[in-house]
Amino acid sequence: MLKDEIERRTTEGRAFMRFMRAEPLQSDEPYQTDQEQKLPQPPLVKARMRPEEAPIALPQDFTGLAQGLDLTQIIRRRKSSRVYTQQGMTLQQLSYLLWATQGVRGVRGKSYATLRTVPSGGARHPFETYLLVQQVDGLVPGAYHYLPMEHQLEFLGPVEDLRANITASLAQQSWAAKADVVFYWSCVPYRAEWRYGIMAHRIVMVDAGHMGQNLYMACAGLGLGTCGIGAFDDDLCGELFGLDDADEFIVYTAPVGTISDKNAAEEAAFYTFVEEDGL
Ligand SMILES: Cc1cc2nc3c(=O)[nH]c(=O)nc-3n(C[C@H](O)[C@H](O)[C@H](O)COP(=O)(O)O)c2cc1C
Repeated sequence: MLKDEIERRTTEGRAFMRFMRAEPLQSDEPYQTDQEQKLPQPPLVKARMRPEEAPIALPQDFTGLAQGLDLTQIIRRRKSSRVYTQQGMTLQQLSYLLWATQGVRGVRGKSYATLRTVPSGGARHPFETYLLVQQVDGLVPGAYHYLPMEHQLEFLGPVEDLRANITASLAQQSWAAKADVVFYWSCVPYRAEWRYGIMAHRIVMVDAGHMGQNLYMACAGLGLGTCGIGAFDDDLCGELFGLDDADEFIVYTAPVGTISDKNAAEEAAFYTFVEEDGL
């Protein structure tokens, strides 16, 4: 039956986001996506997880933040940084990074889609942003969820053994535990599946790249360091933010911290194996 096949393929499609597998539909029955069937669309953003708590307003004025670099200089400076100096970030800097990666700049139609600072196939924007905060002015260390419509954060609670959890959640990449904040982006697949059906998963992963690149560029503009992280512990990441793992799971992560040119040798040490292995 087409229904069964679509269900199986949707599950495989979600697996495709992790394992890059795809195959053509075998059924001859006509297939329509949920949007084509005029089924109701899912919410554009996740509802507040702690509606009983007052959310934290984020600064919206970014004047004076960037270091006066033009786009060409920012593109030139974009790189991965894994050595952080632990000086702490300001709330204005964090606000800028959240805006640059997922900020909402408008709504298409009555509530058809959000338009954001990054592109997304069909403007589905299937991501949610979670943070583990260690050192950001004005924020208690712990777990946070970004509310893009309001440009606010909600505090999800303190996290025991925060540093150890950062390391473990990023597949034991212990250098990341010196980050001031770690971004964990989840995907809510149905936001994209509603429109794209079994095609959705590839598009979602392309979308994730735009978000990651904007984080890199925004960090370069502010003189902060980041590194996209694809090696993470799916289960632990999900547990940290209470995600159900079927309808929402983490797909991409990135630590952010302060950096210094003085650490160039330590940065380079991550790649000594290239010479050692004669690559
Ligand atoms: C999707 C993605 C996943 C990555 N995963 C990791 C990772 O798990 N660990 C790591 O140290 N670097 C990771 N990186 C960083 C790359 O290694 C880095 O971009 C690459 O070495 C090129 O260096 P550059 O970003 O400085 O140009 C990742 C980058 C991307 C875009």
